[in-house]
Amino acid sequence: MTQDELKKMVGWAVLEYIMPNTVVGVGTGSTVSHFINGLATRKHLITGVVSSSSSSTYKLNELSIPILDSNYVNNIDIYIDGVDELNPSLMMIKGGGGALTQEKIIAAMAKQFIVIADKSKLVNTLGGFPLPIEVIPMARTYVSHQLIKLGGIPKYRKNVITDNGNIIIDVQNLKILDPINLENKINTIPGVVTVGLFANRPADIALLATQYGVQKLIAIN
Ligand code: 5RP
Repeated sequence: MTQDELKKMVGWAVLEYIMPNTVVGVGTGSTVSHFINGLATRKHLITGVVSSSSSSTYKLNELSIPILDSNYVNNIDIYIDGVDELNPSLMMIKGGGGALTQEKIIAAMAKQFIVIADKSKLVNTLGGFPLPIEVIPMARTYVSHQLIKLGGIPKYRKNVITDNGNIIIDVQNLKILDPINLENKINTIPGVVTVGLFANRPADIALLATQYGVQKLIAIN
């Protein structure tokens, strides 16, 4: 199976977690795109979705899946999203698609958070994938200097403006041995909007596509 076929397999497999009359958080990316195709077959059963990005909103609208405003829902029952890197505690690096801020808000609002990916995303130590950080444009240089002090190599993601009007800095060279501590540290740098390290709020379940089927991981605490 190709990587895209693996993504499709897991994007459809997660549909068994979607219950009637629930509010579903929808992430961003190529794996989620398959999930949205599957969700379209259940759109009359659910209350609606909260979208994490303009690109997902575009696709949800194309398929006439009802979209709700996050400010007018009491809670999100389940959140389905992809991931860039995942460790065995289901802490993650996300934001390869630049939608990390809305993704983190939806993760915080959601009762259950399920990540879907092909198994290549599972690693022992996070940091191989450059850590995305959404930053207020005028703080780019200041934040970059603070990230160098933390041992990272910051790279400005050129020609990208987030849905919130900000920029993205991708940080290389981080071996993230204490993800909660690093998430908290980066969160305190003035100018940082969101760090794409999801450690304080890891996923509850990971569904990982392999050549032999979908493997389920539950967070070990
Ligand atoms: C977007 C994300 C995506 O979930 C992540 O980049 C994975 O994408 P894909 O499913 O295309 O591999 O965090 O901000």
